[in-house]
Amino acid sequence: DWTSGNVIEEQIAKIREQVGSARVISALSGGVDSAVSTALVHRAIGDQLTAVFVDHGLLRKGEREQVENDYVASTGVRLITVDAEETFLGHLAGVTDPETKRKIIGREFIRAFEKVQRELVDEAKAEGEPIKFLVQGTLYPDVVESGGGSGTANIKSHHNVGGLPDDLDFGLIEPLRTLFKDEVRQIGRELGIPEAIVGRQPFPGPGLGIRIIGEVTKDRLEILREADAIVREELTAAGLDQEIWQCPVVLLADVRSVGVQGDGRTYGHPVVLRPVSSEDAMTADWTRVPYETLAKISNRITNEVAEINRVTLDVTSKPPATIEWE
Ligand code: XMP
Repeated sequence: DWTSGNVIEEQIAKIREQVGSARVISALSGGVDSAVSTALVHRAIGDQLTAVFVDHGLLRKGEREQVENDYVASTGVRLITVDAEETFLGHLAGVTDPETKRKIIGREFIRAFEKVQRELVDEAKAEGEPIKFLVQGTLYPDVVESGGGSGTANIKSHHNVGGLPDDLDFGLIEPLRTLFKDEVRQIGRELGIPEAIVGRQPFPGPGLGIRIIGEVTKDRLEILREADAIVREELTAAGLDQEIWQCPVVLLADVRSVGVQGDGRTYGHPVVLRPVSSEDAMTADWTRVPYETLAKISNRITNEVAEINRVTLDVTSKPPATIEWE
């Protein structure tokens, strides 16, 4: 019968047998699946595993620290962080088309990862143990979906950062292949991964890059990051984490509107709150967040983030709108 303990024991034995004394690499995205699959492999083979975290500069507030400090402290995983913000923002300069953004972010992610990987491959070779495997956080629904051929139109390319080069000469370790998301969370808890990571709501691979409508710049990211952090804080404080599937905060960076603050006229940007309820992100309804909570969020954002002078609410279901604005 199914217990997270049994699954862990089984997977550990399986991973050890598959890997032997070889080295393994893994890409952490900050999300649940890569966090749990990486921790599981680490539990099996310890420092034969190296995890790589690419900071593309499109992360949410505190996300990098969460991985570098909390995740590492709780799992003991050997981690390399790549500072790639400048590279990513350089390539995103002037780009406003959503799919082009996704393509660039996906491509640069692979490049950044491959660079570290080459270094690790050389290092491992010098030490006499080649890198032979790559960890992937594939879940059961991913397996079904990719084999499905459902014929649905490709609405968004859904670049999953963590989607790795497929021309690699590595074997795959996919310890979550038979599991559903809630089972993965359970295993993560059993492995001691902090709740903030294990219970995290979905967040797109291209990160805040597809929540700035218009060009992605460092300043705009800073503004959005602050607003997003306030929204997450207040929704958590209101106990709405379970009811809400996710709540994108979208910066309409090319729109300005007039406001008044103190004695002064402002000419700032609006943000859109997009709280949605959903089972699987295929369809969604907008969440009826209590007015009190919305009021608090609105007050805090306009008080604490100088460039934002208007907070709006998206009350569209999916379909016809998608969850993300891009
Ligand atoms: P949409 O906007 O298509 O989103 O209704 C459905 C779910 O997918 C997430 N999403 C993405 N996830 N890379 C990802 O890894 C992407 O490019 C991407 N685009 C959307 C979105 O956050 C929602 O959970």
